[in-house]
Amino acid sequence: MTSPKTPASLEGASHSEADIHRDRILILDFGSQYTQLIARRVREVGVYCEIRPFDSSEADVAAFAPRGIILSGGPESVTEDDTLRAPDFVFHMGLPVLGICSGMHTMALQLGGKVVAGSKHEFGYARVDVDAAGSLLAGIYDDLADDKAHLDVWMSHGDKVTALPPGFEVMASTETTEVAAMVDESRKFYGVQFHPEVNHTLQGMAILERFALGICECEGLWTPANIVDDIIASVRDQVGDDKVILGLSGGVDSSVVAALLSRAIGEQLTCVFVDNGLLRLDEGDQVMEMLGKGSDNTFRLNIVRANAQDRFLDKLVDVEDPEAKRKIIGNTFIEVFDEEATRIKDVKFLAQGTIYPDVIESAGNKGGKAHVIKSHHNVGGLPDYMKLKLVEPLRELFKDEVRKIGLELGLSREVVQRHPFPGPGLGVRILGPVTREYADMLREADAIFIEELRKADLYDRVSQAFAVFLPVKSVGVVGDARRYEYVVALRAVETIDFMTARWAHLPYAFLERVSTRIINEIRGISRVTYDISSKPPATIEWE
Ligand code: XMP
Repeated sequence: MTSPKTPASLEGASHSEADIHRDRILILDFGSQYTQLIARRVREVGVYCEIRPFDSSEADVAAFAPRGIILSGGPESVTEDDTLRAPDFVFHMGLPVLGICSGMHTMALQLGGKVVAGSKHEFGYARVDVDAAGSLLAGIYDDLADDKAHLDVWMSHGDKVTALPPGFEVMASTETTEVAAMVDESRKFYGVQFHPEVNHTLQGMAILERFALGICECEGLWTPANIVDDIIASVRDQVGDDKVILGLSGGVDSSVVAALLSRAIGEQLTCVFVDNGLLRLDEGDQVMEMLGKGSDNTFRLNIVRANAQDRFLDKLVDVEDPEAKRKIIGNTFIEVFDEEATRIKDVKFLAQGTIYPDVIESAGNKGGKAHVIKSHHNVGGLPDYMKLKLVEPLRELFKDEVRKIGLELGLSREVVQRHPFPGPGLGVRILGPVTREYADMLREADAIFIEELRKADLYDRVSQAFAVFLPVKSVGVVGDARRYEYVVALRAVETIDFMTARWAHLPYAFLERVSTRIINEIRGISRVTYDISSKPPATIEWE
């Protein structure tokens, strides 16, 4: 395998020589909340896969040329007449098919079995007895130190199969469910009622690995090192000798794009880092230090730092509405970026950190019916006259894959594990009008919170944490003096996809320490609160 550290060895190599997309699995999406997780797990075992809508056409599926198909399952009972079904051709392509949860129920029903809406919903941990392991489970349950063959799985379903389709036999069962897994070995059709993709299913990864590598006979080509090589080769193909510009925020995605492009095209890349006055404490200096020219690190990126703090903050004076703030910040970003691009001259490409979930979401959202809760600012809205072509090297990757290739490229763990930070930055964490004074206080409070999280080894255990500035005054007393000062709220959440989130149950002693430090160390703040709202109904950011 070619080392990513020697991209020169790839020069002239055609993209198809090491085609890491060659052996692939197709996941047909029936709307399960776990569909993306299935895809991530299949990729973790080293096999490229894509998610497509459940009603994809035969021509599209044939063109994708998968070695196997997974039916994701969905939220509805398959016993209702008008719920989703797999297209029939899926069962006539001669390919292995794995139905997961209601994907198995659909399969059972469509192939001539019987499914009923169960009287009891099975949800959570279950012990499944293995009746006939067959090619999917053989050897996998043996890892357990138990005299009875079983699997420890996560169930979440209401329906159950009461009569097998012709040709099938029971693979596994529970006390309440006669068919917890089924198989037709001759056609390589498998159904599991539990969720192999979730961590709680102890043998889940082994099962998915068996399906993808063993049964579908895919080679494990999808590895971080191969992905890096592949992207470098395709970026070179796409860009040629032209110049590329990248808006570098210091977040995970743009940093990984920067690292990749620097490997691929070196000096042809210019990164523009815009300091909008709404960044975290010392962020500009840190980004320049970590990624910029002149540091001792692996990276010596060509970064232009645009110090545009005043320009942003002046425009935000007295602006109260969060969406108005987002628009001003987004538009000013574009102005500054455009000026830098003009200065660099002859730029042909704009690099963006679009990742695979964005691609899936925008494909699924074509009707544009989703209600706009917050307009997320992205460099995507560049004016037409800039006429830049897009380079999106992360388009095929999930966030965890982006992190892995970041490490592969030599970025530090600190950079790749960073919590997300919104484009408008502290602008949406200062409620109402933004002032320099508020931004300065918030920056310090945020830095204390994050520093303490790191010290207590809690930073990586929460998905996102930050402080919010509340421009209301409350009475406090420090020493003997009365203080009438501002309030800071702390927010920390746990989430997988940022669409829903639970407030993090941080230890009281920890919260007390952070609160004491903030009130003692920051002039102007006399009270700290902790946000205990989950999403929904609250959102993660306060604006
Ligand atoms: P909400 O507040 O919508 O946040 O629950 C979900 C995730 O999105 C981030 N977020 C933004 N990111 N521009 C961004 O680039 C924005 O305007 C924006 N608003 C929210 C938020 O930090 C969280 O990770």
